[in-house]
Amino acid sequence: MSNADRKIAVAGCGLIGRAWAITFARGGYQVGLYDKADGAVSGACLYIEQVLPELQANNLLNGASPGDVMDRLIECDSLEHALDGAEYVQESTLEDVEVKKAVFTQLDEVATPETIIASSTSAILPSAFSEHVPGRHRCLVAHPINPPYLVPAVEVVPAPWTDDDVRQRTGELMRSVGQQPIMMEREIDGFVMNRMQGALLQEAFRLVAGGYASTEDIDIGIREGLGQRWSFMGPFETIDLNAPAGVADYIARFEGMYSTMAQTQRDPVPWTGDLSGKVESERREFLAADKLGERSKWRDKRLMALRAHQNSQTKTDSEQ
Ligand SMILES: NC(=O)c1ccc[n+]([C@@H]2O[C@H](COP(=O)([O-])OP(=O)(O)OC[C@H]3O[C@@H](n4cnc5c(N)ncnc54)[C@H](O)[C@@H]3O)[C@@H](O)[C@H]2O)c1
Repeated sequence: MSNADRKIAVAGCGLIGRAWAITFARGGYQVGLYDKADGAVSGACLYIEQVLPELQANNLLNGASPGDVMDRLIECDSLEHALDGAEYVQESTLEDVEVKKAVFTQLDEVATPETIIASSTSAILPSAFSEHVPGRHRCLVAHPINPPYLVPAVEVVPAPWTDDDVRQRTGELMRSVGQQPIMMEREIDGFVMNRMQGALLQEAFRLVAGGYASTEDIDIGIREGLGQRWSFMGPFETIDLNAPAGVADYIARFEGMYSTMAQTQRDPVPWTGDLSGKVESERREFLAADKLGERSKWRDKRLMALRAHQNSQTKTDSEQ
């Protein structure tokens, strides 16, 4: 069955729901959009209509036209309508465990038995909102980075009772729309990406607190240094290529150095109080508070250009 005959539902059409709608519709699926707030679905579609031409200009619409993608969006005024014929629903409502519990109860009642129910939650464990649901075996987390149509990684996180087949089918569905699933075996706070980001931020705050480097110098270290490689390879591939005989050689050479450093990295520093003030004032020297919105738009444009570049490189890599 081609994606054109398949349907996905999006429940909650705010920032993330509308971005998922682009991702799934660009991937060829019919997408049923539902939101409980009046006007939210039409507002999301209006937003999508404005974004699509820029995505097309960057060759990021999978060969489709903005009109093709818009035609795949189905504006729904009930959850029943959005879920009718859907094999998968992406819940993207508020980040509140009580809201998620209630929405998952409702989704489980309305969805057909085979439908997968996935949450976009950033930080709530799937077990925290699906335990009470009769169909909990088909519930899990599919956590994107915003916006998923520009950043492919998505964390697929099962609860202890999620069927492995559901986890696998979610991974396949994500691949079918060009996402790159991180197939977690079990849940843990922060999943993978926020744990990695958290570890890096802890160290960044520690270095500023100790007066070792400024916020800008730390940003240079990532932006002009480590991040250059990290935009196309992860930490394990990085170290595999950073010793003549690969990763085992790297471990033999550098494990001692990292282990000594780790002794000074055990205790988190509090980010609040004086440290928060220092970080805030250093950042404001580089970017005035009233320019935050403008700079966010600049970031989104850079991200789009980076995605277009990454796609062209992937094509070149596969031709080699
Ligand atoms: N914003 C991000 O960067 C980001 C990134 C990854 C994941 N997430 C996660 O995605 C989810 C959505 O976040 P967001 O930033 O899009 O929030 P948002 O506030 O922009 O959108 C939430 C939408 O859900 C709707 N809603 C609330 N209750 C509902 C219900 N019972 N039924 C249907 N619709 C309902 C609201 O009307 C609103 O339109 C959250 O769980 C969040 O943690 C957000």
